[in-house]
Amino acid sequence: MQNIDELSEEQARAELKRLSEEMAKADIAYYQNDAPYLTDAEYDSLKRRNEQIEAKFPHLRLANGPSQRIGAAVKSEFGKVEHKIPMLSLGDIFSEEELMDFTAGVNRFLGNKTDNQITYSAEPKIDGLSFSARFEHGKFIQGATRGDGKTGEDITENLKVIKDLPLEIKAPDLPEILEVRGEVYMSKADFFELNKKNAAEHKKVFANPRNAAAGSLRQLDANITKERKLSLFVYTWGDVSEITWKSQSEFLAKVRSWGFKTNPYNRICHTTQDLINYFEDLQQERANLLYDIDGIVYKVDDLALQNRLGFLTRTPRWAIAHKFPAEQAFTKINNIRVQVGRTGALTPVADLEPINVGGVIVSHATLHNEDEIKRKDIRINDTVIIQRAGDVIPQIVRVVKEKRPQDSQEFIFPQKCPVCGAHAIKEEDEAVRRCTGGLTCPAQATERLIHFVSKDAFDISGLGEKIIEDFYRENIIKTPSDIFTLEERNSGGDLFSHHNGLHLESREGWGKKSVDNLFKAINEKRKISLPRFIYALGIRQVGAATSLLIAKHYGSFLTFMQDMLVKNTEKLLEIDGIGEAMVKDIVEFFAEEHNQQTIKLLLQQIKVDDFLDTTDYTSQLSGKTIVFTGTLEKMTRAEAKAKALSLGAKVAGSVSKNTDFVVMGSDAGSKAEKAKELGITILSEDAFFALIS
Ligand code: IVH
Repeated sequence: MQNIDELSEEQARAELKRLSEEMAKADIAYYQNDAPYLTDAEYDSLKRRNEQIEAKFPHLRLANGPSQRIGAAVKSEFGKVEHKIPMLSLGDIFSEEELMDFTAGVNRFLGNKTDNQITYSAEPKIDGLSFSARFEHGKFIQGATRGDGKTGEDITENLKVIKDLPLEIKAPDLPEILEVRGEVYMSKADFFELNKKNAAEHKKVFANPRNAAAGSLRQLDANITKERKLSLFVYTWGDVSEITWKSQSEFLAKVRSWGFKTNPYNRICHTTQDLINYFEDLQQERANLLYDIDGIVYKVDDLALQNRLGFLTRTPRWAIAHKFPAEQAFTKINNIRVQVGRTGALTPVADLEPINVGGVIVSHATLHNEDEIKRKDIRINDTVIIQRAGDVIPQIVRVVKEKRPQDSQEFIFPQKCPVCGAHAIKEEDEAVRRCTGGLTCPAQATERLIHFVSKDAFDISGLGEKIIEDFYRENIIKTPSDIFTLEERNSGGDLFSHHNGLHLESREGWGKKSVDNLFKAINEKRKISLPRFIYALGIRQVGAATSLLIAKHYGSFLTFMQDMLVKNTEKLLEIDGIGEAMVKDIVEFFAEEHNQQTIKLLLQQIKVDDFLDTTDYTSQLSGKTIVFTGTLEKMTRAEAKAKALSLGAKVAGSVSKNTDFVVMGSDAGSKAEKAKELGITILSEDAFFALIS
């Protein structure tokens, strides 16, 4: 790119036009389609270049160029809202020097002799999208996005479903008209949850929490907004009938007292050094926050001073946004490998040229699955942009195609398991390819052992991943029951045994003490609860929550296994929350001979406790299986279920011959029909109510 100092007027004009067009395109992708294709850092550098050229050739500035625009025009489907007070944006800075220029400028403007006479409100810059919410006489009446700063989209219904926004406020000091403004965001946890769900349903996967928040807020159907969990913080105001606060910090305290959420990290700072310290503290804390922030906003706290400072063209002189260096970086893909997981899933992983991303050295990134590699057209030796969000595994944002070398190599996804060589097949409706080797595949076998001793399963702390891998390779532990015969085999059995013993205590880095501790940890787990045991088996799709449901429903492992061995799935299907697909995986698991053998050997070593609970087994409902259908009037479905469970009943999701009662509310459908067919007792809501009270 040409040095700005060397640009002729003609070249500068052409360059400003090019930048304006490029940024307009990027703005549409970012603001309207929630699908950015430039990284924040790339966008910022275009913006900087535009600003620098404009500074040198002020007369060439385009009337509708990037420096004159805020955000993007509104999507047409939403109603429009004119902002009585425009929603402005902030200037950005990227370094400590620029921060010192900012505070020096503020003091110079105000005629102060030294640079440390001003109090600032320092606030995290939330990476979401800004909103304005109008209250009249304490009632929420209208919500809007920023739009182009003058006109936004009407998102009244969408804001109503965000739990952080009070819809009615009663406070004696509340202005008659009050517009609060702030940021709507999605927490990192809710973002991952949403993407996981969307990926499973082959729906849109969002690039980051900000896009997910934007896509969720700007839904014409507010029910969709409601399903997506959004949150918000208030940090400023718009149209207000009477401003009764004298500073930004007083405003924040007031809105908090009225029931709005403000950011808990907002701080008062007195010197430039305070601001620098605050910036560094938050940069450190950034990964631990529950939501994304992309910098710090510094605001002169005193409103009288804010008024004196006033505005530049479209940003205040009394505030600035100090952006964090992007947690993105360029690096090269040295290799692509495939890892094999517990259920045989083949997951491609990129080995990267190690690179520092926001203070952490990154050398691998997950590529998810073969479709993802195709979709992003990722090849070995490509230069890519990687991104690290919080403490999650780094992701590849995109390939930098302009930098693709001659020797880039397409990755051919293996059709065989790279560990055991068995066929790897991809079911039609699945994104992942799986190794069919089962437990004969060393990768699957060790991953299953690792799962077996993990925290929610047997929780044997002395057996880490490395030890399991070593023991597997050396034939010391091949199957879960081997864990429980370890002690016996260690000393070489009895006097007549020809076996030499394992003598783990003489392994490098081990000793008598650590071996004794390990045996103690193992022996403590010879008795295990039913939910833990079911979970430890590592059946596909059966997580800790499902294991608990199964344990509650069956009470003992043997009854559960017997049903599974004869493929009697009726009882299993009764459980609310367990569907056909999961039942299929469970039955397939028990049908495998090697799994039966594993369980048999294991049960010779350990005892699985029956599942006991504290329900009242003397009630009339005790031991009975109940199905609820239709709408209940006197209580919610959840309440009715909880009550039935506490009285010792089982609550099933579908009707079968094992059902004892069907409780029928209004608008009951096919379940009631089926109950009639099977001759099952049908209770009205009143009859059920009488039974439980
Ligand atoms: S103050 C006139 N405070 O960053 C000043 N903005 O370009 C209005 N933002 O449009 C903004 N956290 O979307 C302010 N604590 C905070 C903020 C914040 C995030 C966003 C907001 C604004 C943009 C600045």
